[in-house]
Amino acid sequence: MAIEFAERLKSIPPYLFAEIEEKVSKKIDQGMDIIDFGIGDPDLPTPAPIVEEIKRQLDDPENHRYPTSAGERETRIAIAEWYSNRFGVELNPDREVAVLLGSKEGLANIARAFVNPGEKVLCPDPAYPVYSQGATLLCDAQPVKAPLYDNDDFLLNFEDCPSDTRMLFLNYPNNPTGAVADGAYLMKALRWCNDTDTILCYDNAYSEMTFDDFVAPSILQYGRQAIEFGSLSKTFNMTGYRLGYAVGDAKLIAGLKKVKSQIDSGAPKFIQKAAVAALRHYHGGRRPKIVQDNVDVYQKRRDVMVRGLRKLGFNVRMPKGTFYLFFNVECDSMDFASRMLDMGVVVTPGVGFGQNGEGFVRMALTQPAERIEEALERMRKAL
Ligand SMILES: Cc1ncc(COP(=O)(O)O)c(C=O)c1O
Repeated sequence: MAIEFAERLKSIPPYLFAEIEEKVSKKIDQGMDIIDFGIGDPDLPTPAPIVEEIKRQLDDPENHRYPTSAGERETRIAIAEWYSNRFGVELNPDREVAVLLGSKEGLANIARAFVNPGEKVLCPDPAYPVYSQGATLLCDAQPVKAPLYDNDDFLLNFEDCPSDTRMLFLNYPNNPTGAVADGAYLMKALRWCNDTDTILCYDNAYSEMTFDDFVAPSILQYGRQAIEFGSLSKTFNMTGYRLGYAVGDAKLIAGLKKVKSQIDSGAPKFIQKAAVAALRHYHGGRRPKIVQDNVDVYQKRRDVMVRGLRKLGFNVRMPKGTFYLFFNVECDSMDFASRMLDMGVVVTPGVGFGQNGEGFVRMALTQPAERIEEALERMRKAL
């Protein structure tokens, strides 16, 4: 029997990071010392109190059993409390909160609940690829790309967007560009979605990873007709635990929970309990020490990297959020990435985030300052 992928799977291009990983592992096999700024995976460990809590929770047999796909009530309450502390947004933990297996899972599943085959989903370009692929193409819908431009601070220009769309994904602090959005912009987004009957999915996975004096807002501070996705991955260096959340409009949350109830059985209880402990480090809007220490490390790295890249002649912004630098290399981004890889430096070609990312590359600040300096020196030689 000839086994064929379904058309929807064939429509998905190969995952760029998988291709890069393969090339990198070949170089490692050849004995090359690789400095990897590719995938946005924190190199720093999960703060000790969270790891200790997981170990403690693992000893309780109650935590070895099936969880619920919507999330344990205690976790949903902790997320609601965190929203109240952090954003001043009050949420009903039963109707307005869902626990996710990482925010990626929720971002992919929300479209299944609300987008019919053939309908249009507005996806910024460049963007986290899950919006157009895992969410849109995998439910037989049509991604419509909306360009983000450097000149507009990588903010989506709503006046230029088609209005016959069912759903919009918006993400600030933004991967890959590092751009941030303020409250006035979020209000504009809510108004546009209301006027065009478009469901607003706001990806706030980097809400806690901001620098200088910038504090990232929640879309729910400005209106409740939206669903917001968040994550413990970057806030607490917990990418491997797979824990995120969705909050917002009760109907949107109900749809997402219904999809999830048919697909997964929820995040492991011991991880949810550790997540509760992590979120409870916040006692008000300010970042607790375990988060601030992390952000301070990234901010220092950002300063070293931006300074170094500018010395190499690149026009690099000083990002106010995320741990990504996204800058124009004035040439084919794959070629540039390939040349850097030959020197043992991994960068991600901007085209991997959409056609509009062509000409740019992304570097994740996931290496210590000494390695950043070493990489800059190798880049200088390669240029
Ligand atoms: C913009 C954005 N949203 C969501 C995610 C998913 O994060 P997680 O599934 O670990 O919560 C990522 C991961 O890199 C991301 O960059």
